[in-house]
Amino acid sequence: MPDAVSAPQPTLLHDAREHFPLIFADFLAQQNHLDRRLIEAIAYAMQNGGKRVRPALAWGACMAAGGSWSDADSAAIAVECIHGYSLVHDDLPCMDDDDLRRGQPTCHRQFDEATALLAGDALQALAFRSIATSPRSAAVRAAQTGRLAEAAFDMVVGQQLDLAAEGCRLALEPLEAVHRHKTGALIRAAAVLGALAGGADQATLDAIDRYADRLGLAFQVHDDVLDVIGDTAVLGKRSGADAALQKSTYPALLGLDAARDLARELTGQALAALAPLGSEADPLRELARFLMARDH
Ligand code: IPE
Ligand code: IPE
Ligand code: MG
Ligand code: MG
Ligand code: MG
Repeated sequence: MPDAVSAPQPTLLHDAREHFPLIFADFLAQQNHLDRRLIEAIAYAMQNGGKRVRPALAWGACMAAGGSWSDADSAAIAVECIHGYSLVHDDLPCMDDDDLRRGQPTCHRQFDEATALLAGDALQALAFRSIATSPRSAAVRAAQTGRLAEAAFDMVVGQQLDLAAEGCRLALEPLEAVHRHKTGALIRAAAVLGALAGGADQATLDAIDRYADRLGLAFQVHDDVLDVIGDTAVLGKRSGADAALQKSTYPALLGLDAARDLARELTGQALAALAPLGSEADPLRELARFLMARDH
Protein backbone atom coordinates (compact mmCIF):
# COMPACT_ATOMS: atom_id res chain seq x y z
CA MET A 1 0.00 0.00 0.00
CA PRO A 2 1.68 3.27 -1.06
CA ASP A 3 2.07 6.11 1.41
CA ALA A 4 -0.07 9.06 0.48
CA VAL A 5 1.97 11.79 2.11
CA SER A 6 0.61 14.49 -0.14
CA ALA A 7 -2.94 13.17 0.01
CA PRO A 8 -5.48 15.90 0.61
CA GLN A 9 -7.30 15.90 3.92
CA PRO A 10 -10.37 13.64 3.55
CA THR A 11 -13.72 15.40 3.41
CA LEU A 12 -14.81 13.57 6.56
CA LEU A 13 -11.92 15.02 8.56
CA HIS A 14 -12.33 18.45 7.04
CA ASP A 15 -16.02 18.51 7.89
CA ALA A 16 -15.36 17.20 11.41
CA ARG A 17 -12.85 20.00 11.99
CA GLU A 18 -15.36 22.59 10.81
CA HIS A 19 -18.37 21.21 12.62
CA PHE A 20 -16.93 20.11 15.95
CA PRO A 21 -16.03 23.53 17.43
CA LEU A 22 -19.55 24.80 16.68
CA ILE A 23 -21.42 22.01 18.43
CA PHE A 24 -18.96 21.93 21.30
CA ALA A 25 -19.36 25.67 21.87
CA ASP A 26 -23.14 25.18 22.08
CA PHE A 27 -22.73 22.25 24.43
CA LEU A 28 -20.31 24.10 26.70
CA ALA A 29 -22.61 27.12 26.82
CA GLN A 30 -25.23 24.90 28.46
CA GLN A 31 -22.95 23.98 31.38
CA ASN A 32 -22.49 25.60 34.78
CA HIS A 33 -20.52 28.84 34.22
CA LEU A 34 -20.11 29.85 37.86
CA ASP A 35 -16.34 29.53 37.59
CA ARG A 36 -15.13 31.34 34.45
CA ARG A 37 -11.57 30.10 34.76
CA LEU A 38 -12.63 26.46 34.67
CA ILE A 39 -14.78 27.07 31.60
CA GLU A 40 -11.92 28.93 29.94
CA ALA A 41 -9.52 26.07 30.63
CA ILE A 42 -11.99 23.55 29.19
CA ALA A 43 -12.52 25.70 26.10
CA TYR A 44 -8.75 26.15 25.77
CA ALA A 45 -8.16 22.41 25.89
CA MET A 46 -10.95 21.62 23.44
CA GLN A 47 -11.06 24.51 21.01
CA ASN A 48 -7.38 24.88 20.11
CA GLY A 49 -7.38 22.74 17.00
CA GLY A 50 -6.71 19.04 16.95
CA LYS A 51 -7.39 16.78 14.04
CA ARG A 52 -10.80 15.67 15.38
CA VAL A 53 -10.09 12.08 14.39
CA ARG A 54 -12.43 10.61 17.02
CA PRO A 55 -15.43 12.80 16.14
CA ALA A 56 -14.74 12.04 12.46
CA LEU A 57 -14.83 8.33 13.25
CA ALA A 58 -18.11 8.71 15.12
CA TRP A 59 -19.68 10.62 12.25
CA GLY A 60 -18.20 8.36 9.58
CA ALA A 61 -19.35 5.19 11.33
CA CYS A 62 -22.80 6.63 11.88
CA MET A 63 -23.19 7.31 8.16
CA ALA A 64 -21.69 3.95 7.23
CA ALA A 65 -24.45 2.43 9.37
CA GLY A 66 -27.13 4.36 7.49
CA GLY A 67 -27.59 7.23 9.94
CA SER A 68 -27.33 10.93 9.22
CA TRP A 69 -24.46 13.16 10.32
CA SER A 70 -26.24 14.86 13.23
CA ASP A 71 -27.34 11.54 14.76
CA ALA A 72 -23.78 11.18 16.04
CA ASP A 73 -23.23 14.75 17.33
CA SER A 74 -23.51 13.74 20.99
CA ALA A 75 -21.22 10.73 20.46
CA ALA A 76 -18.68 12.99 18.71
CA ILE A 77 -18.69 15.40 21.65
CA ALA A 78 -18.42 12.55 24.15
CA VAL A 79 -15.40 10.86 22.61
CA GLU A 80 -13.57 14.14 22.01
CA CYS A 81 -14.18 15.18 25.64
CA ILE A 82 -12.53 11.98 26.86
CA HIS A 83 -9.69 12.54 24.39
CA GLY A 84 -9.26 16.19 25.45
CA TYR A 85 -9.20 15.21 29.11
CA SER A 86 -6.66 12.46 28.41
CA LEU A 87 -4.33 14.94 26.70
CA VAL A 88 -4.60 17.58 29.43
CA HIS A 89 -3.70 14.98 32.04
CA ASP A 90 -1.10 13.28 29.78
CA ASP A 91 0.80 16.58 29.57
CA LEU A 92 0.90 17.22 33.34
CA PRO A 93 4.31 17.30 35.05
CA CYS A 94 3.49 14.06 36.89
CA MET A 95 2.79 12.35 33.55
CA ASP A 96 4.67 13.25 30.33
CA ASP A 97 5.52 16.77 31.52
CA ASP A 98 4.98 18.53 28.20
CA ASP A 99 4.87 22.28 27.58
CA LEU A 100 3.51 22.27 24.04
CA ARG A 101 0.28 20.88 22.65
CA ARG A 102 -1.21 21.73 19.26
CA GLY A 103 1.38 24.48 18.89
CA GLN A 104 0.34 26.24 22.08
CA PRO A 105 1.29 26.03 25.76
CA THR A 106 -0.24 22.97 27.40
CA CYS A 107 -3.28 23.59 29.57
CA HIS A 108 -1.35 23.53 32.84
CA ARG A 109 1.23 25.96 31.42
CA GLN A 110 -1.44 28.37 30.20
CA PHE A 111 -3.47 28.13 33.42
CA ASP A 112 -2.05 26.20 36.37
CA GLU A 113 -1.80 22.55 37.37
CA ALA A 114 -4.85 22.46 39.59
CA THR A 115 -7.03 24.11 36.95
CA ALA A 116 -5.77 21.72 34.28
CA LEU A 117 -6.44 18.75 36.51
CA LEU A 118 -9.97 19.97 37.18
CA ALA A 119 -10.61 20.81 33.54
CA GLY A 120 -9.72 17.20 32.73
CA ASP A 121 -12.00 15.91 35.47
CA ALA A 122 -14.81 18.10 34.20
CA LEU A 123 -14.33 16.90 30.63
CA GLN A 124 -14.72 13.32 31.70
CA ALA A 125 -18.05 14.16 33.32
CA LEU A 126 -19.12 16.19 30.29
CA ALA A 127 -18.50 13.22 28.01
CA PHE A 128 -21.15 11.22 29.81
CA ARG A 129 -23.46 14.20 30.06
CA SER A 130 -23.33 14.53 26.29
CA ILE A 131 -24.62 10.97 25.88
CA ALA A 132 -27.17 11.30 28.70
CA THR A 133 -28.74 14.41 27.17
CA SER A 134 -28.74 13.21 23.56
CA PRO A 135 -31.98 12.60 21.69
CA ARG A 136 -31.08 8.97 20.86
CA SER A 137 -33.22 6.14 22.25
CA ALA A 138 -32.69 4.92 25.81
CA ALA A 139 -31.30 1.62 24.45
CA VAL A 140 -28.74 3.39 22.27
CA ARG A 141 -27.71 5.73 25.09
CA ALA A 142 -27.29 2.77 27.46
CA ALA A 143 -25.12 0.90 24.96
CA GLN A 144 -23.05 4.03 24.25
CA THR A 145 -22.57 4.75 27.94
CA GLY A 146 -21.33 1.25 28.68
CA ARG A 147 -18.96 1.25 25.76
CA LEU A 148 -17.56 4.70 26.52
CA ALA A 149 -17.09 3.90 30.20
CA GLU A 150 -15.16 0.76 29.29
CA ALA A 151 -12.93 2.66 26.87
CA ALA A 152 -12.32 5.55 29.28
CA PHE A 153 -11.25 3.10 31.96
CA ASP A 154 -9.06 1.19 29.52
CA MET A 155 -7.40 4.46 28.52
CA VAL A 156 -6.44 5.05 32.16
CA VAL A 157 -5.14 1.48 32.43
CA GLY A 158 -3.03 2.14 29.35
CA GLN A 159 -1.66 5.38 30.75
CA GLN A 160 -0.64 3.60 33.94
CA LEU A 161 1.02 0.82 31.92
CA ASP A 162 2.77 3.45 29.79
CA LEU A 163 4.24 5.17 32.83
CA ALA A 164 5.27 1.87 34.40
CA ALA A 165 7.07 0.92 31.18
CA GLU A 166 9.32 4.01 31.15
CA GLY A 167 12.93 2.88 31.15
CA CYS A 168 11.91 -0.73 30.41
CA ARG A 169 12.22 -2.73 27.24
CA LEU A 170 8.80 -4.29 26.84
CA ALA A 171 8.30 -7.31 24.62
CA LEU A 172 5.96 -6.90 21.66
CA GLU A 173 2.88 -8.34 23.34
CA PRO A 174 2.90 -6.10 26.45
CA LEU A 175 3.73 -3.11 24.27
CA GLU A 176 0.70 -3.85 22.11
CA ALA A 177 -1.37 -4.01 25.30
CA VAL A 178 -0.19 -0.52 26.31
CA HIS A 179 -1.09 0.93 22.93
CA ARG A 180 -4.43 -0.84 22.65
CA HIS A 181 -5.42 0.48 26.04
CA LYS A 182 -4.11 4.03 26.10
CA THR A 183 -5.16 4.93 22.54
CA GLY A 184 -6.84 2.04 20.74
CA ALA A 185 -9.76 1.65 23.12
CA LEU A 186 -11.07 5.19 22.67
CA ILE A 187 -10.62 5.15 18.90
CA ARG A 188 -12.58 1.93 18.79
CA ALA A 189 -15.26 3.37 21.05
CA ALA A 190 -15.54 6.47 18.84
CA ALA A 191 -16.46 4.35 15.85
CA VAL A 192 -18.74 2.04 17.81
CA LEU A 193 -20.63 4.91 19.47
CA GLY A 194 -21.16 6.45 16.05
CA ALA A 195 -22.35 3.16 14.56
CA LEU A 196 -24.78 2.74 17.45
CA ALA A 197 -26.09 6.27 16.87
CA GLY A 198 -26.68 5.39 13.23
CA GLY A 199 -28.71 2.29 14.15
CA ALA A 200 -26.14 -0.24 12.91
CA ASP A 201 -27.17 -3.87 12.64
CA GLN A 202 -24.89 -6.43 14.31
CA ALA A 203 -22.90 -7.27 11.17
CA THR A 204 -22.18 -3.60 10.46
CA LEU A 205 -21.30 -2.97 14.09
CA ASP A 206 -18.87 -5.90 14.06
CA ALA A 207 -17.20 -4.74 10.85
CA ILE A 208 -16.79 -1.20 12.14
CA ASP A 209 -15.52 -2.44 15.49
CA ARG A 210 -12.87 -4.62 13.76
CA TYR A 211 -11.86 -1.73 11.51
CA ALA A 212 -11.41 0.64 14.45
CA ASP A 213 -9.56 -1.97 16.48
CA ARG A 214 -6.82 -2.19 13.84
CA LEU A 215 -6.92 1.53 13.14
CA GLY A 216 -6.55 2.40 16.83
CA LEU A 217 -3.38 0.40 17.17
CA ALA A 218 -2.01 1.75 13.89
CA PHE A 219 -2.73 5.27 15.10
CA GLN A 220 -0.54 4.99 18.21
CA VAL A 221 2.22 3.17 16.30
CA HIS A 222 2.28 6.08 13.87
CA ASP A 223 2.19 8.58 16.75
CA ASP A 224 5.35 6.89 18.07
CA VAL A 225 6.92 7.08 14.59
CA LEU A 226 6.10 10.78 14.36
CA ASP A 227 7.74 11.38 17.73
CA VAL A 228 10.98 10.17 16.07
CA ILE A 229 10.73 11.63 12.58
CA GLY A 230 8.37 14.56 13.12
CA ASP A 231 9.17 18.21 13.35
CA THR A 232 8.04 20.01 16.52
CA ALA A 233 6.66 22.91 14.47
CA VAL A 234 4.51 20.59 12.34
CA LEU A 235 3.58 18.20 15.14
CA GLY A 236 2.57 21.04 17.45
CA LYS A 237 4.08 18.98 20.28
CA ARG A 238 7.69 18.34 21.19
CA SER A 239 9.29 15.67 19.00
CA GLY A 240 11.76 13.34 20.67
CA ALA A 241 9.70 13.45 23.87
CA ASP A 242 9.34 9.65 24.01
CA ALA A 243 13.08 9.02 23.83
CA ALA A 244 13.71 11.70 26.47
CA LEU A 245 11.40 9.84 28.85
CA GLN A 246 12.65 6.41 27.75
CA LYS A 247 9.13 5.45 26.73
CA SER A 248 8.38 2.00 25.42
CA THR A 249 7.50 2.60 21.78
CA TYR A 250 7.33 0.61 18.56
CA PRO A 251 10.26 2.40 16.91
CA ALA A 252 12.36 1.80 20.04
CA LEU A 253 11.54 -1.90 20.02
CA LEU A 254 11.33 -2.74 16.31
CA GLY A 255 13.22 0.09 14.65
CA LEU A 256 11.68 2.84 12.58
CA ASP A 257 11.16 0.96 9.32
CA ALA A 258 9.52 -2.05 10.94
CA ALA A 259 7.26 0.23 12.98
CA ARG A 260 6.17 2.01 9.81
CA ASP A 261 5.60 -1.31 8.07
CA LEU A 262 3.47 -2.46 10.97
CA ALA A 263 1.33 0.69 10.86
CA ARG A 264 0.77 0.05 7.14
CA GLU A 265 -0.08 -3.58 7.72
CA LEU A 266 -2.57 -2.70 10.47
CA THR A 267 -4.15 -0.10 8.21
CA GLY A 268 -4.52 -2.78 5.53
CA GLN A 269 -6.27 -4.98 8.07
CA ALA A 270 -8.56 -2.10 9.06
CA LEU A 271 -9.53 -1.64 5.41
CA ALA A 272 -10.09 -5.37 4.97
CA ALA A 273 -12.49 -5.36 7.92
CA LEU A 274 -14.73 -2.95 6.00
CA ALA A 275 -15.02 -5.34 3.04
CA PRO A 276 -18.63 -6.33 3.88
CA LEU A 277 -19.71 -2.67 3.70
CA GLY A 278 -20.44 -0.75 0.53
CA SER A 279 -19.62 2.76 -0.64
CA GLU A 280 -21.29 4.25 2.43
CA ALA A 281 -18.10 3.27 4.28
CA ASP A 282 -15.80 5.04 1.80
CA PRO A 283 -15.22 8.02 4.14
CA LEU A 284 -13.93 5.59 6.79
CA ARG A 285 -11.64 4.01 4.19
CA GLU A 286 -10.28 7.40 3.11
CA LEU A 287 -9.72 8.34 6.74
CA ALA A 288 -7.67 5.20 7.45
CA ARG A 289 -5.43 5.79 4.43
CA PHE A 290 -4.91 9.40 5.38
CA LEU A 291 -4.07 8.68 9.02
CA MET A 292 -1.32 6.28 8.04
CA ALA A 293 0.36 9.03 6.04
CA ARG A 294 -0.24 11.96 8.36
CA ASP A 295 2.63 14.20 9.42
CA HIS A 296 1.10 15.35 12.72
C1 IPE B 1 -2.62 12.34 20.26
O1 IPE B 1 -3.85 12.18 19.63
C2 IPE B 1 -2.50 11.40 21.39
C3 IPE B 1 -2.68 9.99 21.03
C4 IPE B 1 -3.61 9.28 21.56
C5 IPE B 1 -1.77 9.38 20.08
P1 IPE B 1 -4.20 12.99 18.32
O2 IPE B 1 -3.07 12.86 17.35
O3 IPE B 1 -5.53 12.59 17.84
O4 IPE B 1 -4.23 14.48 18.86
P2 IPE B 1 -5.01 15.77 18.32
O5 IPE B 1 -6.36 15.73 18.93
O6 IPE B 1 -5.06 15.70 16.82
O7 IPE B 1 -4.20 16.93 18.82
C1 IPE C 1 -1.23 9.37 24.29
O1 IPE C 1 0.02 8.90 24.33
C2 IPE C 1 -2.16 8.58 25.13
C3 IPE C 1 -3.17 9.39 25.77
C4 IPE C 1 -3.17 10.69 25.85
C5 IPE C 1 -4.25 8.69 26.39
P1 IPE C 1 1.21 9.94 24.10
O2 IPE C 1 1.76 10.40 25.38
O3 IPE C 1 2.12 9.32 23.10
O4 IPE C 1 0.47 11.19 23.38
P2 IPE C 1 1.22 12.50 22.91
O5 IPE C 1 2.34 12.05 21.99
O6 IPE C 1 1.72 13.21 24.13
O7 IPE C 1 0.18 13.26 22.14
MG1 MG D 1 1.75 9.74 27.32
MG1 MG E 1 2.33 12.43 25.90
MG1 MG F 1 3.11 10.30 21.55
